[in-house]
Amino acid sequence: MNNLELLEMAKKMIPKAYAPYSNFRVGAALLCSDGSVYTGCNIENAAYSPTICAERSAVCCAICDGHKDFVKIAVVSDSDKDSTSAPCGVCRQVLYEFNPEIIVVEESKNDKRGYIEYKLNNDLLPHAFGPENL
Ligand code: THU
Repeated sequence: MNNLELLEMAKKMIPKAYAPYSNFRVGAALLCSDGSVYTGCNIENAAYSPTICAERSAVCCAICDGHKDFVKIAVVSDSDKDSTSAPCGVCRQVLYEFNPEIIVVEESKNDKRGYIEYKLNNDLLPHAFGPENL
């Protein structure tokens, strides 16, 4: 599964997002080491704080299905701004729990490859607090 294919799977989740408050729909596709992929979308709530992001909804689906060996996650939003779907801080922390070195892939209109890759612990969540600190 290459990055563009994973991004396509994430994109297919956008119409499933429940985002009546922000109108910012997000899709995620989480690749596991055995090649399986779990997808997710954001699910908002009238009380706002119970909202779950697309990344965490994909993680929940994977864990419920017995998978936690995550390799890569692709994230896309329906915003026309470029590079607006970097995972939020909470999602970074949740991903770190399972793989500090997970690769995060975002769609990019500026990069000629069509995507940008980040390594979680190097680029998005350096000096994190994780299971190794307990
Ligand atoms: N959101 C995600 O699903 N993933 C992100 O990476 C950033 C934010 C959602 C949460 C909320 O439903 C909406 O986008 C606006 O913040």
